Amino acid sequence: MRVLLILDPLPQIKTYKDTSYAMMVEASARGHEIHVCEQREMWFDGTQVRVTATRLHLQGTGEGAWYRLEEPLAQPLQAFDATLMRKDPPFDLEYLYATMLLERGAAQGARVFNDPRAIRDHNEKLAITEYPQFTAPTLVTRDPLRLRAFVAEHGQAVFKLLDGMGGTSIFQARADDPNLSVIIETMNEFGARSVMAQRYLPEISEGDKRILLIAGEVVPFSLARIPKKGESRGNLAAGGTGRAQPLSARDREIAEALAQPLWSRGLLLVGLDVIGDCLTEINVTSPTCFREIMEQTGCDVAGMFIDALEAVVSR
Ligand SMILES: Nc1ncnc2c1ncn2[C@@H]1O[C@H](COP(=O)(O)OP(=O)(O)O)[C@@H](O)[C@H]1O
Ligand SMILES: [Mg+2]
Repeated sequence: MRVLLILDPLPQIKTYKDTSYAMMVEASARGHEIHVCEQREMWFDGTQVRVTATRLHLQGTGEGAWYRLEEPLAQPLQAFDATLMRKDPPFDLEYLYATMLLERGAAQGARVFNDPRAIRDHNEKLAITEYPQFTAPTLVTRDPLRLRAFVAEHGQAVFKLLDGMGGTSIFQARADDPNLSVIIETMNEFGARSVMAQRYLPEISEGDKRILLIAGEVVPFSLARIPKKGESRGNLAAGGTGRAQPLSARDREIAEALAQPLWSRGLLLVGLDVIGDCLTEINVTSPTCFREIMEQTGCDVAGMFIDALEAVVSR
């Protein structure tokens, strides 16, 4: 296969922990060609969606020295057997336009994962609203009075912006927090911005569990990301420690209920976040944590992923 990965700039990739890198290693070990480009290297030329892509050869593992590039080549998106959109959020307007170009490319015959329309349809925070049976009490509103009433009702709550990631815009507060008004004003901008409030789940001390779904199959181990001391967020990007562990019965119940419906929408790779017994986020843009699970359990997550990609492309 000729596989194209749309990535952030290569120097930003940390080979020792990067999921896209794990995908490249596995694909290349099976003899597939790896090509890369950035989101800005995709365009519409009047008839076709095209990319300026560069063939990449893996070599060594040293940071910065892990790849060798051929000359960039402009070509239509459908010249690749599979395109993996692996650019990290923010999900800004440029990202939105990229999903639209990718969708046009898909209509012209390209195979794009995750499906660009499904990426657009699943805001990573709001997507949980489809599954209220699995979530903690959750409110989404622009009304500051409702946010306040929610904290009063639940005693302690977490506030999230709908486009945050990596723990960047997560606040938690108790009903009697002297900063509560300022937290709400800052996030909600006096009614101008939507905020998600969720009942605080004390089980976060046991980790924010990342559960991976690949083409409708559930990866049998989660990565529990445990907040570092004095920190409320479990995200690895916020200093959390990842501990791989088998799925609990409840983890499996949630994962199995979501796996097939999400795959039927073209979401080849999904990263659920589960705290305690509650689904808190559905990551679809560029889910990670392959490496940590592979290294700690021996479960070949990258192998599962490339198996799935091969199967769907040859179909
Ligand atoms: N309901 C909750 N109760 C306790 N902590 C939470 C809750 N929701 C989120 N958090 C904390 O915030 C972190 C990030 O939350 P998440 O919703 O996954 O957003 P993102 O990962 O996009 O920043 C979690 O790792 C956890 O530490
Ligand atoms: Mg998360």
